[in-house]
Amino acid sequence: MQTGFNNETLKNIKQRRSTRSFKDEQIKDEELQAVLEAGLYAPYAWEYSRHFTVIQNKELLGRLNIAAKEAARQMALEHLRELGSNECFNCLYNAPTLIIVSGDEKAPVPIEADCAAATQNLLIAAESIGLGSCWIFFVLLAFNSPQGTELLKELKIPDDYKPCYSVLLGYKNTATVNMPEKNPDLITYIK
Ligand SMILES: Cc1cc2nc3c(=O)[nH]c(=O)nc-3n(C[C@H](O)[C@H](O)[C@H](O)COP(=O)(O)O)c2cc1C
Repeated sequence: MQTGFNNETLKNIKQRRSTRSFKDEQIKDEELQAVLEAGLYAPYAWEYSRHFTVIQNKELLGRLNIAAKEAARQMALEHLRELGSNECFNCLYNAPTLIIVSGDEKAPVPIEADCAAATQNLLIAAESIGLGSCWIFFVLLAFNSPQGTELLKELKIPDDYKPCYSVLLGYKNTATVNMPEKNPDLITYIK
């Protein structure tokens, strides 16, 4: 689908791909702040329905991976059980930074929508400043593990907030591979 518009925003949206191989080096604080600020500016159905938790502690990231895999091994879906049992699989792909986006379960709106809008902003902002990123569901399984309640406390997730989505951030270890053109048949026009 070709249009006459090719500004920086559209370029970043089209160039963003999930990164699953990261350099060890931690991202700069000002890069983290730029990404978080974009999350705060995302549209919402309920103001203050979201909370962001930034985790840059290697040992804790390791424990989240282990707990998520432990929970995955108990899941009905065979694919998840396989990943949980795969010793080589790290659901955080050794990224140095994880941001968990949690939603206020007391908000009278579908908090997943508010959290998803913020999550997408984090990804686009990361791309715009050259960071690798990946939307991650798997790690949230850690909160279903036997250590789940303790982990919620340790991460200081506010009471009544539910971790909905998460994003990995780091420097890309591999060049971004762009996807082929998207299928325009997915759009119906009624004029
Ligand atoms: C709700 C959601 C959950 C996801 N969870 C994971 C995940 O747990 N692990 C992973 O590697 N990628 C995950 N992804 C990333 C998708 O696999 C990826 O966005 C999709 O394959 C399209 O590829 P692209 O991001 O490179 O365009 C998730 C994406 C979404 C929207």
